[in-house]
Amino acid sequence: MEVPSFDDAAAMIASTKPDGMYVSVPPFAHGPAEHSVDAGATLCVEKPVVLGMRVGRDLGRLPGAVHRFGRPRTELPRGRRVGMALATRVEGIPGAPWWRTERIGGGMLVEMHTHAVAMLRLLVGEVKSVCAMTDTRLIGERPELPGLDIPDVEASTLRFASGALGVVANACALVGGLRLPGAGGTHILAQGLGPSLGGGSPSASFEGGKSEPLPGRGLHDHRLNEAFVHAIRTGDR
Ligand SMILES: NC(=O)c1ccc[n+]([C@@H]2O[C@H](COP(=O)([O-])OP(=O)(O)OC[C@H]3O[C@@H](n4cnc5c(N)ncnc54)[C@H](O)[C@@H]3O)[C@@H](O)[C@H]2O)c1
Repeated sequence: MEVPSFDDAAAMIASTKPDGMYVSVPPFAHGPAEHSVDAGATLCVEKPVVLGMRVGRDLGRLPGAVHRFGRPRTELPRGRRVGMALATRVEGIPGAPWWRTERIGGGMLVEMHTHAVAMLRLLVGEVKSVCAMTDTRLIGERPELPGLDIPDVEASTLRFASGALGVVANACALVGGLRLPGAGGTHILAQGLGPSLGGGSPSASFEGGKSEPLPGRGLHDHRLNEAFVHAIRTGDR
């Protein structure tokens, strides 16, 4: 089968007239592709949807948009009082050149750890206030990584509308084979319950000593694609 290729999203959309479209472009490139599709097409927009609120609100008004880019891997802790949520991620700097420049990539919290922020909003609710600090402490000048200007450590303290507290912290300072085993994941401390997501074996621990595994990432991705295809077939967005 011959598959046509294009170097311009608008030309591809005009030629192929898709019913649905994954938009998986770097953060700075969102907007033109989403605006080029017909009003009826269904969109699955990769995170981070945009770098700023103005374009975000604009895309949110598109009739074809699927607004949520993932489902929670658990319904827990719905209905229980949450005391605190913790989300941490520690990595190196990925290879895509746009990733390390804040103006086009957004930095690690916006580009990568946004997954955890979305998960916390789904599971714990909206955030009422935030106190955040960022700095560049470890990566310094890296001549082999031109354009590098993002913070390498970011830490935020949250107060959710429910009153629960949250901590979101991430770093992209791992270089030269350095590792920090056990440092990543999203954990929620609720009344009688502690779901832990991320890492190799997500699980929920219950008061009384019981613990049960939660679905892994594969199922989560599969459900996202199922929901997208369902939205295209039925118009249920
Ligand atoms: N949900 C997840 O788990 C997950 C995983 C990986 C990546 N992502 C997200 O997907 C996005 C893309 O990441 P990637 O690693 O594939 O990036 P990438 O740099 O490999 O680029 C992806 C594609 O975008 C195209 N592109 C670049 N600039 C463009 C422009 N101006 N207009 C149209 N197309 C353009 C590139 O040609 C490439 O085909 C990022 O926002 C990233 O956060 C999400």
